[in-house]
Amino acid sequence: MNGDSILPILRRIWYHVFMPSNHHEIEHLAAALRTRLSGVREKLHRFGSEKSEAETRERELLTTDFYVQPKSKVENRKSKIRMPGFCVILPTESCMLKCRMCYNWKLVDDPNEVTLSEWIRFVDDLAELVDEPIEINIGGGEPLQRLWVIDLAKHAIEKGFTISIVTNGVPLTEDVVKRIGDAGIQKIALSLDGLTAETHDKIRGVNGSHRIIMNAIKKLSMWSPQSEITIQTILMRPNLHEIPGLIDFVNERDDVKALFTMALMQPHHEPHDELWFEREKNRDIWPQPEDMPLVDRAIEALISNAGDGKVGNPVSQLDAFRGFFHKPYQFIKNDGCTIGDYGLHVNSKGEVFICMNLHSAGNIKSGSIKDIWFADSAMDLRGIIPVCDKNCEFLVNCYYEEESSRAFVNGQVEN
Ligand SMILES: C[S@@+](CC[C@H](N)C(=O)[O-])C[C@H]1O[C@@H](n2cnc3c(N)ncnc32)[C@H](O)[C@@H]1O
Ligand code: SF4
Ligand code: SF4
Repeated sequence: MNGDSILPILRRIWYHVFMPSNHHEIEHLAAALRTRLSGVREKLHRFGSEKSEAETRERELLTTDFYVQPKSKVENRKSKIRMPGFCVILPTESCMLKCRMCYNWKLVDDPNEVTLSEWIRFVDDLAELVDEPIEINIGGGEPLQRLWVIDLAKHAIEKGFTISIVTNGVPLTEDVVKRIGDAGIQKIALSLDGLTAETHDKIRGVNGSHRIIMNAIKKLSMWSPQSEITIQTILMRPNLHEIPGLIDFVNERDDVKALFTMALMQPHHEPHDELWFEREKNRDIWPQPEDMPLVDRAIEALISNAGDGKVGNPVSQLDAFRGFFHKPYQFIKNDGCTIGDYGLHVNSKGEVFICMNLHSAGNIKSGSIKDIWFADSAMDLRGIIPVCDKNCEFLVNCYYEEESSRAFVNGQVEN
């Protein structure tokens, strides 16, 4: 038996062993493997001179799925893989603001960005891939720098997808907002990091950014009334004192549906640094020991407005934020990663990721997402993710799952 013939089975075992929802299949898989191997061994014994023929057959058997024989290997593999549950696309990664916690603005415009026609093909392929239409979140960079994004969103909505766009508000002129309204875009998240202009503008690096967000809320309510407006705020040292006021602001406005918060992560487009929060250069954004009472006050205010209130984060996640700020190195997880294998992310170059921190599974410029989702490179990722031992902050924010938090138990920071 050569390495090639056993590899697909090992990969499948690896996959099934670490996929909780597939545990029941492991025994089935092991039994099938034993049967196949003993059958092959018997053949080799009986037909010594026909060894090479038996080996060929062995290879066929081992690379053929055992559950549903008439289906092809590819079809069987597809039937066991979960379809994307959500999708994030980045039309561009460049930006016009100069945020303190995100260095996307240092990127120069990339001539290799995916074009509108390539994105449309992606959306069409995705519509054929998924069991039912999912939400496509359009982020960036500042996504609305590329105004064709609105045409893309309209096309995706016609295909049944829900579209959410997260924006710094700068491109939201009256004309753009009217186009958003005409396209029927369902959700707009506006990034607002301070109650006051002083705080927001300082974080965003450009004076007038706060006024732009305030005007964007008015324009969207007037010209795109079907768009659900939410506020997205990063919890960070410079704005902790304004969080209670920001909650009141959202509570008072009928045109704002909810407030979602995220814990500060390492600024984007810096080389990965596990101890970034200890570095001198990040002292102004990462809460220091003397700020912990402010962290606790902000979290308490958020918790008392979660659930039935307008704060959209689950209480357990807010507790996890508190744990993260108090003991960032102790966070986030004990064992493997909980993000699962159903998140689909495509960056501005067309690279497809299941986890943005791991390798690409393929590129939508040269292949269809219908193939990339089942490719060996994607299967490899499905093997890596459940055992990934990176202590990464994704798990506290976008990929938050209750079981991913260990620093916080029953609302108390562990000693
Ligand atoms: C990268 S931005 C892209 C969209 C748009 N440019 C904006 O600012 O809304 C998406 C979201 O990530 C948030 N973000 C940026 N840097 C972050 C960081 N270091 N930690 C946590 N969230 C961050 C932004 O505030 C924004 O809500
Ligand atoms: S957070 Fe958004 S607005 Fe700020 S630099 Fe990053 S992409 Fe631009
Ligand atoms: S721990 Fe982080 S890097 Fe590793 S798979 Fe999970 S989200 Fe990705």
